[in-house]
Amino acid sequence: MSHKPFLCIAHRGASGHAPENTLKAFALAIEMGCPWVELDVYFVDGELIVIHDNDLDRTTNGTGLVMEATFSSLRALDAGENEKIPTLDEVIALIDHKAGINIELKGPNTAVPVCNLLRKLVSKGWKPSEFLLSSFNHKELALADEAFRRGALFYKMSDYFSRTRSLNAYSINLSMKLISKEVVEQAHQEGLKVFVYTVDDRAEMQNLKKLGVDGVFTNYPDHFPPEE
Ligand code: G3P
Ligand code: MG
Repeated sequence: MSHKPFLCIAHRGASGHAPENTLKAFALAIEMGCPWVELDVYFVDGELIVIHDNDLDRTTNGTGLVMEATFSSLRALDAGENEKIPTLDEVIALIDHKAGINIELKGPNTAVPVCNLLRKLVSKGWKPSEFLLSSFNHKELALADEAFRRGALFYKMSDYFSRTRSLNAYSINLSMKLISKEVVEQAHQEGLKVFVYTVDDRAEMQNLKKLGVDGVFTNYPDHFPPEE
């Protein structure tokens, strides 16, 4: 009997248990044996930093827009439990091949600096397949080096497959509310992996697995694998 892999992707790290997008959350995901992590990047003041929102208010003790801050002021903030906002380099160094890394291009003009960094890492022995680049901003994603896998993110119904074809995407990364048997089958016919966000409930994980989904983003990697 063949067992199709069903991937656990730690959403912003093990963010159900530690402050999201911090080294603590990524270390915990690794400790939990999660084979992939997901994070969100912005390119601010010449540095790639890992944070989700476009403002600082929800996840740090700062206020104001991420893109208007200086790198040193960002680094002085508390991102929860005395964790700093990490740089992308720091997260990758922490992961150190222990998991795949899905880098979501969240901020503007992130594709080029992220790919510059990844090319350097590949020259030092990282495999391109250890990374997945994704974005809701498909124009930004199209600027990513095709040496790296692309995941087209969607939060609402769209012309999914004309988008994934023009991006030459590896995966379609869909909100749970968009999932149906038909879309999963069609995606597979297109040769795409199907990854679903954000799934914390074990029963929901199991239903998605039965539908043939290839993996889920979860804040709770310890809820994995779902019950049979
Ligand atoms: O990549 C999956 C998921 O992270 C997309 O939504 O808002 O959590 O970045 P968001
Ligand atoms: Mg994300």
